[in-house]
Amino acid sequence: MIEEAQPAGKRLIILGDKIAPTPHLTAFVKNLKLENSLLDLGEQVKYAICSDSSEVATTLRRYQDDVKMVLIGPGLRGNGVTVARMLATKAHIVMIIDPRVNPLGADPASYAHIQANLEGLDVILALTKDADEAFFQPLIKEYVVSGMLVGTDLESMSPEERAEMIDKRLDAVNTFPSLPDTQRKVAALDDLDPPKKWAEAIDEDLPTKTVILRILNSARYGFRSRVETIDQAVALASARTIREIVTACQIRQIFSKTSDGTIDQFWKHSLAVANFAKLLSLPADPGAQDSQQKTEFERFQLEEEQVAVLQEAKLWEKIELGEGDDPFTAGLLHDIGKVTMLMCLEDSLELVMALVEQEVQEAQAANQMWAHQVVEIERFLMKDIDHQSIGIRLADGWEFDASIQQVIANHHQVAEHAPTIIKLIALADIAGNCLFPYPATETQHPFPILFDRIDKGLKKSTKTSPEAIDEVISEEIFEDLVDVLNRLNLPNHLWELIDLKTFFKVIHVLAPKIKSATIGFLQQTA
Ligand SMILES: [Fe+2]
Ligand SMILES: [Fe+2]
Repeated sequence: MIEEAQPAGKRLIILGDKIAPTPHLTAFVKNLKLENSLLDLGEQVKYAICSDSSEVATTLRRYQDDVKMVLIGPGLRGNGVTVARMLATKAHIVMIIDPRVNPLGADPASYAHIQANLEGLDVILALTKDADEAFFQPLIKEYVVSGMLVGTDLESMSPEERAEMIDKRLDAVNTFPSLPDTQRKVAALDDLDPPKKWAEAIDEDLPTKTVILRILNSARYGFRSRVETIDQAVALASARTIREIVTACQIRQIFSKTSDGTIDQFWKHSLAVANFAKLLSLPADPGAQDSQQKTEFERFQLEEEQVAVLQEAKLWEKIELGEGDDPFTAGLLHDIGKVTMLMCLEDSLELVMALVEQEVQEAQAANQMWAHQVVEIERFLMKDIDHQSIGIRLADGWEFDASIQQVIANHHQVAEHAPTIIKLIALADIAGNCLFPYPATETQHPFPILFDRIDKGLKKSTKTSPEAIDEVISEEIFEDLVDVLNRLNLPNHLWELIDLKTFFKVIHVLAPKIKSATIGFLQQTA
């Protein structure tokens, strides 16, 4: 709730705290009144009280650059440290700490560590007993009244400085997970290495081994005899398949500690993008498939009609992948920065989601579908940092292949001459969002809403499926689709690979198979 704040047009302080006559708030208000008494009426500094971290985010968006200082008090609901780390370099952050409800950690070591980290980000920290008028006076004067700029600007930094700043914001040294052992061993293997070597790398990791065997013995793979060992698995199913399963298991395991309840939706999104990327890159024409591609294509168990639509679109002919490119793994890991962000900035999703919901409501009031990239919302909150720049810090530390690193870092800003793998993942990301968007939900994201409208249109149609989908896309949703794509700011050159009507038709036709492959895989790797 906002008290006293009018659309300031000038300078605003966000006060994230409980409204209570606590000594530090009384001191703050008193000092602000004093400063304001020296200013002309139009120049006076306003403040907005926000009781929880989501409200800090929505208020920040409402008043944008007018916000000069964010005061995080002990009464703020939500994670004050995360708010401070996210918003550092966007506004001046002052954090008041009540030692009785200490947000910096109970034990002295973690207290000292978080304190040093926040101070390294120019966050001003003070205990409640020290937050008196004399404490606020220079802060309000410098930060707000004389408009001292926030110290760091990522744009003007060298790549190394940027990376260092991002690590600081994430407290990466302490909160970045390390790459699991099996993943490291498997990454070092070559696809042509003998199955025995693969078994050596995986055998000791019983949970991963169990998952591999469970998946390979499922109906999707249809081997005649039971697969009992990793040697057999590699020989029967190909090294690439084993690599995919290991990556999915291992990376899921690391982030399973992330307590956030939406993590399943994250994996559905990632796996759907992985499956779409793989299927769209495979030749659909039997004459154009090598034996491995044939097996991988068959595993999707497509209906004739689905194969026909893929054959007609001929997307694979435009997708020239490099030697190290792996569409499935690239799709699976493209948004790894999102879970890294959840892990390093606990509760950060609440701020992002608060802004998504605010925008959705504004769009609805304007009779529009919401269409804004989450990456832009992240950049707004964290000033230039987003899940791509976060993901690349992790991928760099884990020494992922260059191709995957490029995808992680650039899938939302696809340059015209970008490598095809990035374009493929950008397309697969759009497709994945039609089924499982993240973190915006199915009722917020425009693509599932448009998909729903295609389904409804199909019920009225008398034509057979692909033809009918064509008609519904052209006649019922095309204008809205183009409007949404424009507002999402998606680069037009993506549609040079495949025309956009054909793309949405293909995605809609394939959707049921990708959905079941995704959910099946998720259950089997649980
Ligand atoms: Fe993304
Ligand atoms: Fe994505």
